[in-house]
Amino acid sequence: MLHDENPNGSNPSTTPHLADLIAQQPTRRTLLAGAAGAAAAARFFGASAFDGTLLDRAARNAASALPTGPITFTEVPPSAADTFVVPQGYSAQVIIPWGTPLSSTAPAFQEDGSNTAADQEQQVGFNHDGLHFFPLGVGPFRNRRGLLVLNHEYTDASQIYSAAQGSSITPDAAGAEKVQKALAGHGVSVVEVARQADGTWSHVLNSPYNRRITGNTPVAFSGPVSESHPLLQSTVTPAPLGTLNNCGHGYTPWGTYLAAEENFNGYFGTSQLGWTPTMLEARYGVTAVGFGYNWHRASARFDLAQNRNEVNRFGWVVEIDPFDPTSTPKKRTALGRVKHEGATVTEAKGRAIVYSGDDENGDYVYKFVGSQTWKSLRDQGLDPLDHGTLYVARFDANGTGEWLPLVHGTGPLTVANGWADQADVLIRTRMAADALGATRCHRPEWVSVHPRTADVYVTFTNGSGNSAPVNSGRATNPYGHIVRLGHARGDHTQDQFVWDIFLLAGDSQYDPLVPAGQALFGSPDGLWIDDDGRCWIQTDISNSSQNRPDRGYDRIGNNQMLCADPQTGDLRRFLTGPRGCEITGVITTPDRKTMFVNVQHPGESTTFWNAQFGAPTTANPSSVSSWPFGGRPRPCTVVIRKDDGGVIGT
Ligand code: FEO
Ligand code: CA
Ligand code: CA
Repeated sequence: MLHDENPNGSNPSTTPHLADLIAQQPTRRTLLAGAAGAAAAARFFGASAFDGTLLDRAARNAASALPTGPITFTEVPPSAADTFVVPQGYSAQVIIPWGTPLSSTAPAFQEDGSNTAADQEQQVGFNHDGLHFFPLGVGPFRNRRGLLVLNHEYTDASQIYSAAQGSSITPDAAGAEKVQKALAGHGVSVVEVARQADGTWSHVLNSPYNRRITGNTPVAFSGPVSESHPLLQSTVTPAPLGTLNNCGHGYTPWGTYLAAEENFNGYFGTSQLGWTPTMLEARYGVTAVGFGYNWHRASARFDLAQNRNEVNRFGWVVEIDPFDPTSTPKKRTALGRVKHEGATVTEAKGRAIVYSGDDENGDYVYKFVGSQTWKSLRDQGLDPLDHGTLYVARFDANGTGEWLPLVHGTGPLTVANGWADQADVLIRTRMAADALGATRCHRPEWVSVHPRTADVYVTFTNGSGNSAPVNSGRATNPYGHIVRLGHARGDHTQDQFVWDIFLLAGDSQYDPLVPAGQALFGSPDGLWIDDDGRCWIQTDISNSSQNRPDRGYDRIGNNQMLCADPQTGDLRRFLTGPRGCEITGVITTPDRKTMFVNVQHPGESTTFWNAQFGAPTTANPSSVSSWPFGGRPRPCTVVIRKDDGGVIGT
C-alpha cells in the first residue's frame, strides 16, 4: 500500500456519517452555481438558525463590492499523458526536485539512486507536499525572493534506492542504512528561492536559511502534553526525534510554518509473534504490519515490541520557524493527536484559529481556538498554539452544526470515565472525539478560509478507498466532495455553524448526482483560496483508481488542479500532472503572478499503468513515468508564470 491512505478506517462509532447527512438532504446537493445557485444558497442560509450569517455574508460581499478576481484562462483537457500541462499563455518550470543539494558542499544527486542517507540529509527531500512562500525583502522584492517551505510526505522504496540495494528492508546494516535514507527523505525543506532577470526561478545555493528537518531532527513537545509523559517515554530514543508523514501544512500570522503529521501509524510494526494493539493503538490504526515498510526489521525505534511508545510521539502539528535555522521544531500538543492532514490558521477577534482534518475514513474535522489574542500571548512570552481549546465538529442533518470542546472535566471526558487529565484527552484525541459524538466523515483533507466571507471550505477526498462499483450512486462516495462551513458574523470563535455542499466531485457519466458538464475531477485534496477569492482545488486520486473505467475514473485522467469561483460556480481545469503523480501544495507570491505547485510521487505504482508498463522497481523506477527529466521520476516544485506577466488565473 503506497498512498491509498487507510481507506477502511478505524472508527468503531456508530454516529451519523456526513455522507449520510448529505444523502438525506438532496436539496443541499445542488451545486451553488450562478444566479440559481446563489438563490439556493440564500434559501438555505435564510432558512437556517443563522439569519445573521446570511445578512452578514451579504453585507460583507456587498461592502467589499469585489467579485472573485477574474478567471479567464482557457481550460486544459483531462490528460493521461506523462506530461505537465498548463493553459495556453502559461509556462511551467521545475525547481528543487528531490535530491537537489542545498549547499555547494552537499553531494550531487545520483541518477542511479545511490545517494546515501548522509547525502539525503543535505538534499531536498522526497514527495513534496504542502508548501508556503515566505517573502524576503520589502516592496516589489517580496515577489522576487523568499523562503519556500515544504513538506516531504513519505518515501517510495521502489524509487529512492539503487538497483543494487533493492527495495526490501533487511535486518542488517544495509537495511538500517536504507531506513536512515528514508528518514532523511522525510520531513521539511526550507529553501531560499529567487527570481532571475529572465523571469525564471532558482534556489539559492548556500543560503543561510536553507535547512532540512527530517525524521531524525531533534524536536520538542509543547503545550499540555509534555515529553516526560509516561506514554511518550522511549527506551531507544530517549529524546524525541523527527517528524514523519508531513502532508498538508499551515502558516501563522507571526511568520512560522506548521507541518502536520498524517499517516504516522504505517511506519511502525513488529515481528514479535502474538503482539496485539491496545485500544489506543487500534484506534490509530497501529498494527504489527504497518504499511508494509518493514522499518522495524532494521530499526528498533520502529519496532512496536521493543519501543512501544515511540508511535505516541507522532500525529501532532509541528511548528517551525523558517527564519531561524537553529530553532527546534515544536510539536504543538494542544492541537490534538490525529492524522492531521494540515493545520490551516486564520484569525478571529485577534485569536489564532486552526482548522484540521483527520484524514481517515470515518474520522473528524477539528478546530482550535486560542484563549487570548495571539499578540497578547506572544507579548507575555507565551506561544499562541499552546493556549486554547480544541473542538471537534458535529454536523446535523438540518444544515447546522456544533463545535464540541475536547476539554478534560467537561461532558464525558471526566476522571470517572477514565480520562486522567487534558494530556490524556489530547494523546487520545480520536477516542475523546468519539465520546463527544462527533460526525464521521469521508477523509477530511485540506481546509481553506475564504479571505472575504470567512467561510471555511473543507475537502473530503472520497470514501472507501474509491472501491465503489460505478453507477452505484454516492453510497461509498468514490469521488469526494467539498463542504462549506459558515459562522455567524464570520466569527470563527463561535460554537455553532451552518454547512452546505460547495462541490460534488465526479463524472456525471457514472454518477447522476454530478452536474452534467461540470469539469471532470475526483478525490479533491489540496485546497487554497487566494486573496482574490479564486479557489484552487488539487486532486489525489488513489493509485488503485487512477484512470480506471471500472472505478469511474477513466475520463478524469491523471491528477490535476482546478480553479473555482465560489460566487459564480465557474469551475475550470488549470493543469494536469504526469502519470502516477498527485498534485498537492499551492501558493503564489503576494502579487499572485508566480505560483508554486508541488508534483508528488510521479511514476508511483498504480494499478492502471502497472498493467501496461510493469510496476516500478529499483531496477526500473521509471516504468510508469520518466517525468520531469526523462529518467528516474522525481517529485519537485513547479513554478507557473503567465507569459505576459499577469496574475495567475487570468
Ligand atoms: Fe496525505 Fe490526506 O493526503
Ligand atoms: Ca493530502
Ligand atoms: Ca490525499
